[in-house]
Amino acid sequence: MTTPPPPAPVEAAVRRAAEHSFPYSCERVAGELLAVLAAAVPAGGRILELGTGAGVGLAWITHGLGGRADATVLSVEQDPDTAALAASAGPPSWVTLTTGDAEALLPGLGRFDLIFADAEGGKWSGLDLTLRALADGGVLLLDDMDPARYELPEHHRAIAGVRATLAADDGLVLTDLPVGTGIIIATRRPR
Ligand SMILES: C[S@@+](CC[C@H](N)C(=O)[O-])C[C@H]1O[C@@H](n2cnc3c(N)ncnc32)[C@H](O)[C@@H]1O
Repeated sequence: MTTPPPPAPVEAAVRRAAEHSFPYSCERVAGELLAVLAAAVPAGGRILELGTGAGVGLAWITHGLGGRADATVLSVEQDPDTAALAASAGPPSWVTLTTGDAEALLPGLGRFDLIFADAEGGKWSGLDLTLRALADGGVLLLDDMDPARYELPEHHRAIAGVRATLAADDGLVLTDLPVGTGIIIATRRPR
């Protein structure tokens, strides 16, 4: 079976990343999952991405939302040049790009129905802040969770730390998907 090309805005974002030598964009399987999960966000729902990068994950999220303007997306990027790169794509009006440190901003952002935690802050450190921002029934997606991809002990420790934080939150239902870079999806049970 031939894989169809990604949606045009995703292709454009991948090209933008390559042209600016930005190597950290999410893989296609993570992007497709983001699109599927974004499509399921309820009317009035809120989506958060930590770490905008060149905008590849964001392009998958907006693809999932299709023409919907009844949900909003907030994406946070610490590095001003990278944030400007993603902004150059001219995202739809219901997407807000914010420049700043995810960990510093998280306590003031409110709750979200879908979170893609893809930055140092709010994932490798401060994951508890991200979990607090997950609405009842909300879904969290994390990639880069396969320790076999890493050689350094500190990377193994970081992944173990993320898994321990997730396991300690008994309001979460988790699945560990052995695809791409290793994906964990966690849903917060409604209380
Ligand atoms: C893995 S890349 C993001 C890729 C993007 N989510 C995608 O799917 O294409 C991580 C990004 O997080 C940004 N970042 C690192 N630490 C951050 C922090 N504390 N707050 C916000 N962004 C951060 C980096 O500058 C980098 O652009």
